[in-house]
Amino acid sequence: MAKTKTQFVCQNCGTVHTRWAGKCDGCGEWNTIVEDDPMGGIGGGPGKTPKKGRAVALTTLSGETEEAPRVQTGISELDRVTGGGFVRGSAVLVGGDPGIGKSTLLMQAAAALSRGGHRIIYVSGEEAVAQVRLRAQRLGAANTDVLLAAETNVEDILATLAEGKRPDLVIIDSIQTLWSDTADSAPGTVTQVRTGVQAMIRFAKQTGAAMVLVGHVTKEGQIAGPRVVEHMVDAVLYFEGDRGHHYRILRTVKNRFGPTDEIGVFEMSDKGLREVSNPSELFLGERNAKAPGAAVFAGMEGTRPVLVEVQALVAPTSLGTPRRAVVGWDSARLSMILAVLEAHCGVKLGQHDVYLNVAGGYRITEPAADVAVAAALVSSLANVPLPSERVYFGEVSLSGAVRPVSQTAQRLKEAEKLGFSSAMLPASSAEIPKGGKKRSSEIEGLPDLVVEIAGSARKLGKGQEED
Ligand code: TYD
Ligand code: MG
Repeated sequence: MAKTKTQFVCQNCGTVHTRWAGKCDGCGEWNTIVEDDPMGGIGGGPGKTPKKGRAVALTTLSGETEEAPRVQTGISELDRVTGGGFVRGSAVLVGGDPGIGKSTLLMQAAAALSRGGHRIIYVSGEEAVAQVRLRAQRLGAANTDVLLAAETNVEDILATLAEGKRPDLVIIDSIQTLWSDTADSAPGTVTQVRTGVQAMIRFAKQTGAAMVLVGHVTKEGQIAGPRVVEHMVDAVLYFEGDRGHHYRILRTVKNRFGPTDEIGVFEMSDKGLREVSNPSELFLGERNAKAPGAAVFAGMEGTRPVLVEVQALVAPTSLGTPRRAVVGWDSARLSMILAVLEAHCGVKLGQHDVYLNVAGGYRITEPAADVAVAAALVSSLANVPLPSERVYFGEVSLSGAVRPVSQTAQRLKEAEKLGFSSAMLPASSAEIPKGGKKRSSEIEGLPDLVVEIAGSARKLGKGQEED
């Protein structure tokens, strides 16, 4: 019989180490490694004779497969992110910082589903029934048939779920409070969280209920983060937002049943989260079009165009090393744009502090924002506002070329809808509108193109939809 050896597991990323260390090699976090029971109570423990395997029937790739049955919440921003509703028999992890609004969002979803006649069970491990009721009252969900339980023990939860009619959707808030008798470690450790999540996933698969698991993102590493169970669930959604701002974004990170680049936008209020069906209007709401250093970026989030303002401030530095501060964008990319501007466009920023901010606390992940950033920087340096009716997009390469980006038509269509009349975009765009003509633009040296988008964008957009 093999001797049970202890192992050391990082509570943040789940990397297994043979000995304790202060810093995890896997994720670079400090003080996250703890001793762990390798079998974790799962799989019967060491020394058990493996049972003889059973051959399964192999099949082919083609064949009749039914569309996954879904539970639609009717909250369209949420349904969009899940790819059309929660899939029955699947498990979804909703991660996010503590206090970001996960419980609020899921209580609203539970209430909406319950009104639609679904049987919804909300298991709260963090808050007492009274607290959950209070929230439900605030959200106007108190008179719905959502069933509540305040419980953290996995076996008790499973027994509760198995009683009565099969639930359509189960919400576990949160996975970090789950603990099972079968695992020896303390609640909140990787082993406990994994065991609990595994049991919940098994319940979902067996009964066809949709399982929603809430997971707190942890910085301190005291409890296991959602990363350790990401690979076990069918979909991973992250709820994010800036604490200083009143809107929240639900982002898909993984989805076995739908697209992964969709976002849902919500606005916080005292009555809970409100859907924002046109995020561009929200992000451009407080725009001062006459300020130098501001460029409107026509971005895409999945299938949806989002217009946001990129703000730059360039000021002579008083320090030996100039400051570079970025909020909402990649700082390495900013350094790259600064280098390209210096090398190819004669824009010298070596003696300037550079601050870059994406309005509203929004975070841009697309390289297509390069051109907007470059325009904002040049505008701030020259202290000349950019044309207020123009949007910017395009990827800048190290050689100083502006590379085409995808979905030109959708970007232009959204810009036109919001009252913009021209766009600066890559000259080599595959889908340049008919009326597009080369003009000298804000950044000399970048081979970009400014086009009038009125009318032509509509034409182009139509052609796009048809194919
Ligand atoms: P909560 O949903 O409890 O966050 P999480 O479950 O992610 O930890 O929300 C945190 C706090 O914010 C809570 O006190 C309620 C408040 N809140 C609102 O007042 N309005 C809102 O729209 C949201 C989302 C939260
Ligand atoms: Mg909560």
